[in-house]
Amino acid sequence: MKLAISMNKIFSFIFCIFFLLFGSITVQAEELVGYRGEVLYFTGNPAKVDHAYQYFPNGVLYVQNGKVVESGDYEVLKSQYANARLIDYSGHLIIPGFIDTHVHYPQSEMMAAYGDQLLDWLNNYTFPTERKFSDPVEANRVAKLFLDQLVNNGTTTALVFSTVSPVSVDAFFEESQKRNLRMISGKVLMDRNAPDFLKDTPQTSYLESKALIEKWHNKGRLSYAVTPRFAPTSSPEQLALAGKLVGEFPGVYVHTHVAENKAEVAWVKELYPDSRSYLDVYDHFGLVTDHSVFAHGIYLNDQDMQVMSKKGASIAFCPTSNLFLGSGLFNLAKANEYNVKVGLGTDIGAGTSLSILETMNEAYKVTQMRKAFVEDPSTVKPLDPMQSLYLATLGGAKALSLDDRIGGFTPGKEADFIVLGSTSIPLLNARVKNAKNIADKVFAFEMLGDDRAVEHVYIMGVQAK
Ligand code: GUN
Ligand code: ZN
Repeated sequence: MKLAISMNKIFSFIFCIFFLLFGSITVQAEELVGYRGEVLYFTGNPAKVDHAYQYFPNGVLYVQNGKVVESGDYEVLKSQYANARLIDYSGHLIIPGFIDTHVHYPQSEMMAAYGDQLLDWLNNYTFPTERKFSDPVEANRVAKLFLDQLVNNGTTTALVFSTVSPVSVDAFFEESQKRNLRMISGKVLMDRNAPDFLKDTPQTSYLESKALIEKWHNKGRLSYAVTPRFAPTSSPEQLALAGKLVGEFPGVYVHTHVAENKAEVAWVKELYPDSRSYLDVYDHFGLVTDHSVFAHGIYLNDQDMQVMSKKGASIAFCPTSNLFLGSGLFNLAKANEYNVKVGLGTDIGAGTSLSILETMNEAYKVTQMRKAFVEDPSTVKPLDPMQSLYLATLGGAKALSLDDRIGGFTPGKEADFIVLGSTSIPLLNARVKNAKNIADKVFAFEMLGDDRAVEHVYIMGVQAK
């Protein structure tokens, strides 16, 4: 009898703990919460329109059920949402989560590989590293590390290379799903000019990609990208089958590299002598679509820009990678001139940081360096701080055709947002105190900030940092 009572007590104790843990999570998501702070987000591209952003110094962002309810000036909105629980981030910036439009999760542990430019770097460092990702334990370990660090840096959505092994894709999507992150990835296609241990064939690449699309595409917040590594590692047969997949599954992405390095561009000319240009190789096989994202695009010509603009394809500008591999200086002004969508990419392991703040820092320096290489330097403007933040948020969302869901704070958007603060970086803190206006403050964060400036991260309204 005594034993029965104490067992009952134990069960009700366990039930209470369970309810407190999981019951409270549900309540938290359904509850209306107002986050007070300096609210800033974009509604257009500052390179194109005059009133491109909304800024509320005494702002509030109301969130419920993982979505934005409304954002604006606190004094204006507070009576309408008098029942909201308030969280006070006054004096801190509340902005949409960063978007990384090109990154390789399997290269997380091979950053800072010394000495080579693109083609040697691939052979000497990248391919041996990617070999390990047919092992599910290894793939899962690195996927966890990558996603933890991505979120730690305030990035809430990314377009991500896995490896040629479907195991690597499953590991990535499984971990993304656990964290409720909006992520896009896919199996790499490569059937030539690579070591045997990383090669697939046109047929296996088609069948494996098809099975992965059926398993993962549009499953919750996940989407699939058909991912030929780059033209040199795919035969025409493989690219034709990649195009067939894109035709069969409307809405899947295409994710690849283009015109990154001069030696690579020359090699593509040898491999595909009948193509007008490197981009034209992809276009010939139906791979330039409004869901295509091309990393780098440093050596695209005007006709290529026209084609990209017409088809609605995007470029991932990856400044830390382009400087680290000595690839070249991306011409952002030209992409803007042709209305080509651009997002920022960290491109690790060729990139040297997962931080989008540090990526904006290097992007600025790329535009500064371009002045040294054009005939008339007065025509080149350094990257505007607000344009840069646009690329990292709404611009990235547009580049991924996700701007109806993420990248801003209009009602109904998914509540992926971050809180930036300067207190953990003394020199940034001092600089922010001297900021002349919001653009100057943003510039200080871009030049001096890193993951320490990302104080909090929310994924669909649930705190992840
Ligand atoms: N081109 C083909 N593969 C790669 C890669 O892994 N990284 C970069 N930066 N460029 C590539
Ligand atoms: Zn890359």
